[in-house]
Amino acid sequence: MRIGVLTGGGDCPGLNAVIRAVVRKGVATYGHEFVGFRDGWKGPLEGLTKPLGIPEVRGILPRGGTILGSSRTNPFKIENGVERIKENLAAQGVDALIAIGGEDTLGVATKLHELGVHVIGVPKTIDNDLGATDYTFGFDTAVNIAMEAIDRLHTTAESHHRTLVVEVMGRHAGWIALHAGLAGGANVILLPERQFDVEQVAGYVEKRFQHQYAPIVVVAEGAQPLDGQMVLHNQELDAFGHVRLGGIGQWLAEQLEAKTGKEARTVVLGHIQRGGTPTAFDRVLATRLGLQAIDAVHEGDWGKMVAMQSTDIVRVPLADATRELKTVPLERYAEAEVFFGS
Ligand code: F6P
Repeated sequence: MRIGVLTGGGDCPGLNAVIRAVVRKGVATYGHEFVGFRDGWKGPLEGLTKPLGIPEVRGILPRGGTILGSSRTNPFKIENGVERIKENLAAQGVDALIAIGGEDTLGVATKLHELGVHVIGVPKTIDNDLGATDYTFGFDTAVNIAMEAIDRLHTTAESHHRTLVVEVMGRHAGWIALHAGLAGGANVILLPERQFDVEQVAGYVEKRFQHQYAPIVVVAEGAQPLDGQMVLHNQELDAFGHVRLGGIGQWLAEQLEAKTGKEARTVVLGHIQRGGTPTAFDRVLATRLGLQAIDAVHEGDWGKMVAMQSTDIVRVPLADATRELKTVPLERYAEAEVFFGS
């Protein structure tokens, strides 16, 4: 069998580990051949390929990013996009496609499967917000990077009696904020799942100063104040209709400084959270997902996504992964609230 592989959406530590596992098992165990499609769905859409065999995947396990490149191209927004993909797959002699991505990339994979393309999905996102899988690779790395940043920021917050607001990624789901905030001992954690009262946050901050200790506030980029709106970087939409967020941290720091009279500063972690080498957890998860994905292809189990449920790697219908986002349950948020202001 000749199998195409692509990576779509935001880059994520562990993508290369999946590619490596797919190719290593695919060649060694099953004798399949591979072709890499470049830059997400743009690759099959425009026929952009790259050789993908054992030599190409040597040494990539610890490398962040993706050797195949990525993009947020949406073939359903491009004239004759699906026909062009089908033509290019046929021209390359590709029998099946492994699509590694988040809700947008896998949403396209789901529709292509319904239109007869042989596709298997592998879930990827640092946001950990895909349904049908307990964890996505990249999340653990992002949380560890954010936790380390919080650990380091405690030093300045305490030495200078400042509030430090740390803005982390997470448009609609606050998993990174919740886990990094809990692991880093944040004083307040703010998520997109629950609008926050800025007066209450200022109260937590003041209480922390009363203990002669300085507060760290962790805020997800998609968090919103009560009766407020998401803070946007600009109004432009990408091909999947997403806005670019950014700025809630700065807005909050200004509010907290005005309300508490104590200096407040913001740190926006941005793409640092997606950069560099994956943690051991993400390398193992990505490898196991890759191994299961090539098994699914070999068995012709089309339209499935490989997923982690408990400690097992299973297969679920692709549509289950993208039906609804997995957001933070409010009872999980309540666990963290115990530490707010104390
Ligand atoms: O989906 C992953 C993610 O990192 C989100 O947390 C973030 O909102 C978005 O991608 C940013 O995307 P980009 O790098 O394309 O601006």
